[in-house]
Amino acid sequence: MVKAVRYYSKLGNTKTIAEAIAEGAGVEAVSIADEPQLKTYVDVLYLGGAPYANIMAPELKRYAEDLSKEQVGKVVLFTTSNWSRRTVLALKKILKEKGIPVDNDYFYAHMLNIKGRVAAAQEFGKKTQ
Ligand SMILES: Cc1cc2nc3c(=O)[nH]c(=O)nc-3n(C[C@H](O)[C@H](O)[C@H](O)COP(=O)(O)O)c2cc1C
Repeated sequence: MVKAVRYYSKLGNTKTIAEAIAEGAGVEAVSIADEPQLKTYVDVLYLGGAPYANIMAPELKRYAEDLSKEQVGKVVLFTTSNWSRRTVLALKKILKEKGIPVDNDYFYAHMLNIKGRVAAAQEFGKKTQ
Protein backbone atom coordinates (compact mmCIF):
# COMPACT_ATOMS: atom_id res chain seq x y z
CA MET A 1 0.00 0.00 0.00
CA VAL A 2 1.79 3.13 -1.22
CA LYS A 3 0.69 6.34 0.49
CA ALA A 4 1.59 9.96 -0.20
CA VAL A 5 0.70 13.29 1.41
CA ARG A 6 0.48 16.46 -0.68
CA TYR A 7 -0.71 19.87 0.45
CA TYR A 8 -0.81 23.56 -0.30
CA SER A 9 -0.29 25.92 2.65
CA LYS A 10 0.25 29.67 2.67
CA LEU A 11 0.44 30.26 6.44
CA GLY A 12 1.62 26.89 7.75
CA ASN A 13 -1.57 25.47 9.31
CA THR A 14 -2.29 22.93 6.60
CA LYS A 15 1.41 22.10 6.50
CA THR A 16 1.37 21.19 10.21
CA ILE A 17 -1.66 18.92 9.71
CA ALA A 18 -0.14 17.42 6.54
CA GLU A 19 3.04 16.58 8.45
CA ALA A 20 1.04 14.94 11.24
CA ILE A 21 -0.98 12.84 8.78
CA ALA A 22 2.26 11.93 7.00
CA GLU A 23 3.87 10.87 10.26
CA GLY A 24 0.92 8.59 10.93
CA ALA A 25 1.09 7.20 7.42
CA GLY A 26 4.86 6.72 7.59
CA VAL A 27 5.67 9.02 4.65
CA GLU A 28 6.90 12.56 4.01
CA ALA A 29 4.49 15.45 3.51
CA VAL A 30 5.36 17.30 0.33
CA SER A 31 4.12 20.73 -0.72
CA ILE A 32 2.67 20.89 -4.21
CA ALA A 33 4.66 24.11 -4.55
CA ASP A 34 7.81 21.93 -4.39
CA GLU A 35 6.46 19.02 -6.42
CA PRO A 36 3.63 20.08 -8.73
CA GLN A 37 2.87 16.53 -9.93
CA LEU A 38 3.02 13.00 -8.54
CA LYS A 39 6.01 11.15 -9.93
CA THR A 40 4.82 7.61 -9.28
CA TYR A 41 1.54 5.79 -8.69
CA VAL A 42 0.14 5.89 -5.15
CA ASP A 43 -2.69 3.84 -3.71
CA VAL A 44 -3.79 6.51 -1.23
CA LEU A 45 -3.15 10.21 -1.76
CA TYR A 46 -3.87 12.49 1.17
CA LEU A 47 -4.51 15.90 -0.33
CA GLY A 48 -5.16 19.09 1.61
CA GLY A 49 -5.49 22.84 1.46
CA ALA A 50 -7.39 25.80 2.87
CA PRO A 51 -9.83 28.47 1.64
CA TYR A 52 -8.65 32.02 1.11
CA ALA A 53 -11.53 34.44 0.59
CA ASN A 54 -13.82 31.48 -0.03
CA ILE A 55 -11.73 29.67 -2.60
CA MET A 56 -8.81 27.28 -2.54
CA ALA A 57 -5.46 28.43 -3.92
CA PRO A 58 -5.32 28.20 -7.72
CA GLU A 59 -2.21 25.99 -7.36
CA LEU A 60 -4.24 23.38 -5.49
CA LYS A 61 -7.14 23.56 -7.92
CA ARG A 62 -4.73 23.01 -10.81
CA TYR A 63 -3.12 20.10 -8.98
CA ALA A 64 -6.49 18.37 -8.60
CA GLU A 65 -7.43 19.12 -12.19
CA ASP A 66 -4.13 17.66 -13.43
CA LEU A 67 -4.43 14.48 -11.39
CA SER A 68 -5.48 11.38 -13.33
CA LYS A 69 -7.07 8.16 -12.16
CA GLU A 70 -4.03 6.31 -13.52
CA GLN A 71 -1.90 8.05 -10.86
CA VAL A 72 -3.95 7.30 -7.73
CA GLY A 73 -6.07 4.55 -6.25
CA LYS A 74 -8.04 7.02 -4.18
CA VAL A 75 -7.79 10.41 -2.52
CA VAL A 76 -8.36 11.25 1.16
CA LEU A 77 -8.89 14.96 1.79
CA PHE A 78 -7.99 17.28 4.65
CA THR A 79 -8.45 20.98 5.25
CA THR A 80 -7.88 23.77 7.76
CA SER A 81 -9.85 27.01 7.91
CA ASN A 82 -11.63 29.56 10.04
CA TRP A 83 -15.07 28.13 9.42
CA SER A 84 -15.46 26.76 5.92
CA ARG A 85 -15.05 23.19 4.70
CA ARG A 86 -15.66 24.15 1.13
CA THR A 87 -12.14 23.18 0.04
CA VAL A 88 -13.08 19.56 0.70
CA LEU A 89 -16.31 19.86 -1.27
CA ALA A 90 -14.66 21.66 -4.18
CA LEU A 91 -11.77 19.19 -4.40
CA LYS A 92 -14.15 16.25 -4.17
CA LYS A 93 -16.21 17.61 -7.05
CA ILE A 94 -13.15 18.07 -9.30
CA LEU A 95 -11.75 14.63 -8.49
CA LYS A 96 -15.04 12.74 -8.80
CA GLU A 97 -15.65 14.29 -12.20
CA LYS A 98 -12.32 12.78 -13.24
CA GLY A 99 -13.38 9.35 -12.00
CA ILE A 100 -10.99 9.45 -9.03
CA PRO A 101 -12.43 7.82 -5.90
CA VAL A 102 -12.54 10.14 -2.87
CA ASP A 103 -13.13 8.95 0.69
CA ASN A 104 -16.19 10.42 2.37
CA ASP A 105 -14.13 10.65 5.54
CA TYR A 106 -11.89 13.72 5.64
CA PHE A 107 -9.83 15.52 8.28
CA TYR A 108 -10.66 19.02 9.49
CA ALA A 109 -8.73 21.31 11.82
CA HIS A 110 -9.79 24.79 12.85
CA MET A 111 -7.05 27.37 12.31
CA LEU A 112 -7.06 28.28 16.04
CA ASN A 113 -6.66 24.67 17.15
CA ILE A 114 -3.99 23.27 14.86
CA LYS A 115 -1.72 22.05 17.66
CA GLY A 116 -4.71 20.52 19.41
CA ARG A 117 -5.49 18.45 16.32
CA VAL A 118 -1.99 17.09 15.63
CA ALA A 119 -2.46 13.82 17.53
CA ALA A 120 -5.81 13.19 15.81
CA ALA A 121 -4.23 13.92 12.43
CA GLN A 122 -1.50 11.36 13.15
CA GLU A 123 -4.19 8.81 13.96
CA PHE A 124 -6.04 9.73 10.78
CA GLY A 125 -2.90 9.04 8.75
CA LYS A 126 -2.46 5.72 10.49
CA LYS A 127 -5.97 4.43 10.22
CA THR A 128 -7.30 5.45 6.81
CA GLN A 129 -6.58 3.01 4.02
C1 LIG B 1 -6.52 36.09 3.10
C2 LIG B 1 -7.23 35.01 3.87
C3 LIG B 1 -8.52 34.67 3.53
C4 LIG B 1 -9.19 33.67 4.25
N1 LIG B 1 -10.46 33.33 3.90
C5 LIG B 1 -11.11 32.34 4.56
C6 LIG B 1 -12.42 31.94 4.18
O1 LIG B 1 -12.99 32.44 3.22
N2 LIG B 1 -13.03 30.96 4.90
C7 LIG B 1 -12.43 30.37 5.99
O2 LIG B 1 -13.05 29.49 6.60
N3 LIG B 1 -11.17 30.70 6.34
C8 LIG B 1 -10.50 31.66 5.67
N4 LIG B 1 -9.23 32.00 6.02
C9 LIG B 1 -8.56 31.24 7.07
C10 LIG B 1 -7.62 30.19 6.47
O3 LIG B 1 -8.32 29.31 5.63
C11 LIG B 1 -6.97 29.43 7.62
O4 LIG B 1 -6.14 30.31 8.35
C12 LIG B 1 -6.16 28.25 7.12
O5 LIG B 1 -5.80 27.45 8.24
C13 LIG B 1 -4.93 28.70 6.36
O6 LIG B 1 -4.24 27.56 5.95
P1 LIG B 1 -2.65 27.63 5.73
O7 LIG B 1 -2.04 28.05 7.06
O8 LIG B 1 -2.29 26.23 5.39
O9 LIG B 1 -2.40 28.60 4.65
C14 LIG B 1 -8.54 33.01 5.33
C15 LIG B 1 -7.24 33.38 5.67
C16 LIG B 1 -6.58 34.36 4.96
C17 LIG B 1 -5.18 34.72 5.33
